[in-house]
Amino acid sequence: MDMVRLAVVGATGMVGRAFLRVLAERDLPMKQLYLFASSRSAGQRIDFQGQEYTIEELREDSFDRGVDIALFSAGGETSMQYAPIAAAKGCVVVDNSSAWRMHADVPLVVPEVNPEDILKHNGIIANPNCSTIQAVVALWPLHRRYRIKRIIYATYQAVAGAGMGGWRDLEEGLQGKPPKKFPHPIAGNCLPQIDVFLDNGYTKEEEKMIQETQKIMHAPDMKVTATCVRVPVFIGHSEAINVEFEEPYDMRDVIDILENAPGVRLRNDHANAVYPMPVEAADTDEVYVGRLRRDSTVESGLHLWVVADNVRKGAATNAVQIAQLLCKK
Ligand code: A2P
Repeated sequence: MDMVRLAVVGATGMVGRAFLRVLAERDLPMKQLYLFASSRSAGQRIDFQGQEYTIEELREDSFDRGVDIALFSAGGETSMQYAPIAAAKGCVVVDNSSAWRMHADVPLVVPEVNPEDILKHNGIIANPNCSTIQAVVALWPLHRRYRIKRIIYATYQAVAGAGMGGWRDLEEGLQGKPPKKFPHPIAGNCLPQIDVFLDNGYTKEEEKMIQETQKIMHAPDMKVTATCVRVPVFIGHSEAINVEFEEPYDMRDVIDILENAPGVRLRNDHANAVYPMPVEAADTDEVYVGRLRRDSTVESGLHLWVVADNVRKGAATNAVQIAQLLCKK
């Protein structure tokens, strides 16, 4: 593809706005830009690179005019309904919702890990869950060298991951107002529930991390478990990750691998209190890794602390990177 006609679906949302910021920075070869949201926002104007665009209501005929790539972040129901309509019109959808991620014929892509999977798309490519993206960017180069046997995730996830509503709950909660988006106050609190509960006692967010890690790394038998927690941080997910490798590892080699891993920044200087933090990761595209230490309770165990901007690398940046790969194809 040379010059593309691009659409953003959910352009008024937390991730939709980040799509526009990242697109402006990355100079995708674009000849047309269409912005869609719900009827509530139709007619609203948004500035992009000095030009004003009008938000249109998303409708069944929205893709009739010829759209090459559409970045979707308007919730699962919207993606479920409209992504196939867009794909049937010849558009390639990069979908940020969880609606299509586990479908067998939908690639789930993190460009630093499995860019080759993009080629297998049938009109829809799924952008993984924010917590999964940052984890696999850090773990993939280690898996290639030492083969991961088991992963235990514990996440500390920012409210931006719950969209504008999550952001407002923390902002207003800090002023003593009751929550609207979350089931409990988030200010001064931690919520060990992200998304709905499943019959097995896990939440859907935890299940997403487990299944998506296995799919992206093409490792269906890898043992993965997770506990996902919402914390009162505006932007930037943190993750305590415990990994057990098949093979013995050398800590200097692990450091060397992570220092050279695409998309990774090592922040691992204990003596100087240098470690990854959400305030440092916010507004950047990198995945920060630190607090590296051997877990000697198992044969070949490693602890990592992994932080990234969940709205950028966890959503918008990853989707735009996929769009850039599509353009190069
Ligand atoms: P709108 O602003 O018109 O409601 P967030 O996750 O930050 O809350 O953003 C959700 C995004 O998805 C918004 O841009 C929202 O538009 C959009 N959206 C929600 N429902 C629909 C729908 N049925 N059709 C199109 N866009 C939708």
